[in-house]
Amino acid sequence: MAMVGRLAALGPVGPGARLGILGGGQLGRMTALAAARLGISCHIFTPEDNGPASQVCPMVTLAAYDDLDALSRFAASVDVITFEFENIPAASVAHLAALRPVRPGWKALETAQDRILEKRFFNDLGIATAPWAPVTDGPQSLAEAVAKIGCPAILKTTRLGYDGKGQVRLNAPGDSAAAWAALGNRPAVLEGLVPFVSEISVIIARAPDGATACFEPTLNHHREGILHTSSVPAPIRPQTAIAARAIAESAALALDLVGLLAVELFVLADGSLLVNEMAPRPHNSGHWTMDACHTDQFEQFVRAVCGLPLGDPSRFRAMRMTNLIGDEVHDWPLLMATPGARLHLYGKVESRRGRKMGHVNTPV
Ligand SMILES: Nc1ncnc2c1ncn2[C@@H]1O[C@H](COP(=O)(O)OP(=O)(O)O)[C@@H](O)[C@H]1O
Ligand SMILES: [Mg+2]
Repeated sequence: MAMVGRLAALGPVGPGARLGILGGGQLGRMTALAAARLGISCHIFTPEDNGPASQVCPMVTLAAYDDLDALSRFAASVDVITFEFENIPAASVAHLAALRPVRPGWKALETAQDRILEKRFFNDLGIATAPWAPVTDGPQSLAEAVAKIGCPAILKTTRLGYDGKGQVRLNAPGDSAAAWAALGNRPAVLEGLVPFVSEISVIIARAPDGATACFEPTLNHHREGILHTSSVPAPIRPQTAIAARAIAESAALALDLVGLLAVELFVLADGSLLVNEMAPRPHNSGHWTMDACHTDQFEQFVRAVCGLPLGDPSRFRAMRMTNLIGDEVHDWPLLMATPGARLHLYGKVESRRGRKMGHVNTPV
């Protein structure tokens, strides 16, 4: 295995190889299933016992993300390493990178881990975001940020936010103290509320040789801060779609990314775009590709991180993906009986409120 690993650093990691994935959620599960179809087996590294990914993988390391000994053993057993979860500590990523190819690399992870670095990264590329100001020194810097950005605005923690968690809306400057306390006095960023007409996202794959393949932009609807549906084709102008792809392309290039990059965007009334955030991995808004594209996002992810030829990302049918959140998963008998609907469940036992339990792809 060590020999294979060494060769892997020099060339593609093909059928018979082993892909290491940090993170054990549904994105890891669907990546492992796609890898299996290509004859590539996965080794999951996760602190969660019997999570969605572990259930479909014979090789699992159950350990904390900062357990360097466990990370060393994990690295020794795989040919290439990737992530389905970007919030891995810097020291762990550096440790792994000394042992095996790590794709994407630290720059993409670091930038996606921190909303301030992320917004600066896009702005430095000349790509617009919502107006924003850092709030890193407590209530005083929040007051300065409110003076600069105005209200309404959204205060977001710089790190570890997802599904609308770690965010508070400020309707007036008087809401500042409560908002700051609600986020638990953590470093944050204040963003002006964007009057978007729609939200879209675009997912690009980039291979080690710099080749790219982009999925078409998706129209996204959120409910209570959580993605509810993603639909294609998105009702946007051709120029808007071209601009979205160009943003993803330049970000992937600037990050020297190998793998997938998902970029969430706000569409304004004039068709122009603002970047909201990015994720250097498969993304919930790309689940429609599983039943509508020649190569879906999970297979494309495996191909990219393994240095295999990228697949054809083009779409062969219109599709709507609907997330099954919490108790919505109990509709599975009905969904299973719906002609054309393709049900994907993540194997989570408990359907807690706000928890992503599965999704269904429905041709439209
Ligand atoms: N500046 C903003 N203006 C308007 N709506 C926003 C803004 N920021 C976030 N939202 C809304 O909240 C959702 C979740 O915010 P986002 O920053 O993407 O966080 P998360 O990491 O939870 O996905 C967005 O998809 C959008 O609907
Ligand atoms: Mg988001």
